[in-house]
Amino acid sequence: MTNEIVNSALSKVMYPGFTKDIVTFGFVNNVEINGNDVSFNVDITSSAPEVAQQIKDEATDELKSVGATNIIVNINAPKIPEAATPKSKNLAPHVKNFLMISSGKGGVGKSTTSVNIAIALAAQGKKVGLLDADIYGPNIPRMMGVAGIKPEVIGNKVLPIKAYGIEMMSMGSLMDDGQSLMWRGAMIMKAIEQFLRDILWSELDVLVIDMPPGTGDAQLSLAQSVPVTAGLTVTTPQSVSLDDSRRSLDMFRKLDIPIAGIVENMSGFIAPDTGVEYDIFGKGTSGPMAEEFDTKIIAEIPIEPSIRTGGDEGKPVTFVDPTSESAKRYMRAAESIWATIEAVNASGGASNESVQPTTPPGVSACSSK
Ligand SMILES: Nc1ncnc2c1ncn2[C@@H]1O[C@H](COP(=O)(O)OP(=O)(O)OP(=O)(O)O)[C@@H](O)[C@H]1O
Ligand SMILES: [Mg+2]
Repeated sequence: MTNEIVNSALSKVMYPGFTKDIVTFGFVNNVEINGNDVSFNVDITSSAPEVAQQIKDEATDELKSVGATNIIVNINAPKIPEAATPKSKNLAPHVKNFLMISSGKGGVGKSTTSVNIAIALAAQGKKVGLLDADIYGPNIPRMMGVAGIKPEVIGNKVLPIKAYGIEMMSMGSLMDDGQSLMWRGAMIMKAIEQFLRDILWSELDVLVIDMPPGTGDAQLSLAQSVPVTAGLTVTTPQSVSLDDSRRSLDMFRKLDIPIAGIVENMSGFIAPDTGVEYDIFGKGTSGPMAEEFDTKIIAEIPIEPSIRTGGDEGKPVTFVDPTSESAKRYMRAAESIWATIEAVNASGGASNESVQPTTPPGVSACSSK
């Protein structure tokens, strides 16, 4: 057995997945020949065990075919990177459940829905908080009738503002009226974290979180900061809104957030004088989308002037006019959401483990799903 014979035999062993052999790659070294005994090292760049095995098998076969008897192949592969072991993270562990209210599109009624669902849940006996996570466009203080009211600061923590039996916090309550914010993504993440860690929320049954429109930094940081128990998507019946809502539902899936359903807002119009319901944008058009995501429409909320005036004047319809058709529908939606939350908890509870940033850096912060 000579060096040349060994080299030419090993030149027939292709590096798995490539059209180049292991000798040409320069992976073969420390060749030792003793009669017909051959030993050598192969330094490979893959940590996949099947790559090492394939090279070992083929090299052995090739060398046997040229007369080698004892063949020792030492494969040096990089270590399999330690799998990051992200754990579920909760910056507000005393809050029992988190409900994320989202939409792909702006202006479809997320904040209105958040306020009325929060009030409906409180009316059903739950201890409820309402977090306005819309850092750029906080509307919740106005809708809850507490615009201009500043929260009490205790040390470096802030007490939530109380209104309609609910604890509330918003960037709008922390900054001066009309001041606009031009924040970068990293600062949005910081703000969301502080809203969860540095606000003195009580031991809430549920924190309802009104998100900014879209699927961006705020959504990801929220999902990474607390295990979101359920996500609710708000849409309007027009197709353009539905396209965006599909993205919002898809985001819940990617973030491993159980879907509590869809609120189809501005679904029909109830005339204030006659109480007759008219179809304006279409109704029930989100049905197929709900099916696609294995969920359901939990409320069709009509366009009602009292919903808008309730928002503008800080008098939420569910609180001030609980017998109105919209209030009744918000109440039913809240019951349905609570049923989802209970079901999630009964089957082990929410976890945000799969969306934690993983090490080493450069690996996607989202799960690979
Ligand atoms: N069902 C409804 N009937 C009448 N007016 C409504 C209804 N839903 C929402 N509105 C009004 O539409 C406007 C937009 O609603 P809202 O602010 O809740 O939307 P949003 O999705 O939170 O918007 P943004 O994306 O800007 O945060 C508000 O003036 C609100 O009062
Ligand atoms: Mg809003």
